[in-house]
Amino acid sequence: MRHLLSAADLDAGEATALLDTSDRLREALLGREVRKLPTLRGRTVVTMFYENSTRTRVSFEIAGKWMSADTINVSASGSSVSKGESLRDTALTLSSMGADCVVVRHPASGAAHRLAHWGGTGPSAGGAGIDTGGATTGTPTAIVNAGDGTHEHPTQALLDAATLRDRLGGIAGRRIAIVGDVLHSRVARSNVLLLATLGAEVVLVAPPTLLPTGVDTWPCRVSYELDAELPAVDAVMMLRVQAERMHGGFFPSAREYAVRFGLSEDRAALLREGAVVLHPGPMVRGMEIAPAVADAPNSAVLAQVRNGVHVRMAVLYHLLAGAPE
Ligand code: CP
Repeated sequence: MRHLLSAADLDAGEATALLDTSDRLREALLGREVRKLPTLRGRTVVTMFYENSTRTRVSFEIAGKWMSADTINVSASGSSVSKGESLRDTALTLSSMGADCVVVRHPASGAAHRLAHWGGTGPSAGGAGIDTGGATTGTPTAIVNAGDGTHEHPTQALLDAATLRDRLGGIAGRRIAIVGDVLHSRVARSNVLLLATLGAEVVLVAPPTLLPTGVDTWPCRVSYELDAELPAVDAVMMLRVQAERMHGGFFPSAREYAVRFGLSEDRAALLREGAVVLHPGPMVRGMEIAPAVADAPNSAVLAQVRNGVHVRMAVLYHLLAGAPE
């Protein structure tokens, strides 16, 4: 694996290998007083976030530190991006300084792909990736997509898959509903791709106004009736309503959305025993999910966050140290 740009980059074997590595890293760290493995000593991981983040940025930083990599955070507002520097020039600058891996979040769909497959001038022409000689390793800088616009968020899908494996004992043959603002959700697209690859049956539940064009080509089913779907699912993943991407309001209204698509306590009672509730966060409590449902024993929200660290350790490990035997 050279880069991780899309959940579609992973076949079932590669995805399972990453999840297995994540489990092994979690076991390796369990009960340790000092959570430090020497695995990536001497490697440099730069997180470059042009959009806000709590979970993804911090968990990549922890993941790198727990494997002894040097981790450096760059934010758009505190860097030369605020002076007008382009994404490409910023990435080339970081690569020239010895970044072995750049983890990028950007509001533009396709930004991570552009970095990894930059054409034109320089050693990266023809899709070799940004490459200034790799100051520490002699290899091109690995790119990880930490969320690009409304397109993809592959490490979120991996941590969701890790959580579902833990809670359900496996993913193949399980029915998973993904509910809400699919239109603006990079989490939804990556999850549909990865869960289908791993053999799950995925159903998207959303108002027609919050579904993207072309959704009929995705490897999933579409439904508009949450109450009809809930009794038959093994897990339900509630999506964040991305108000910041809805310029000029959205239909249905927030109130109508909560009534028809929010996971209220009454609605959660329709779930069968053992069914798991997920949310990628940040949650808008009271609209997408009732506070009592978010905090219930069958909610895996904090387990998702915990798994995020181990999954991101696994991704860095596979990219920078090679897939383990
Ligand atoms: N789920 C997720 O990507 O959260 P952050 O925006 O906090 O990183």
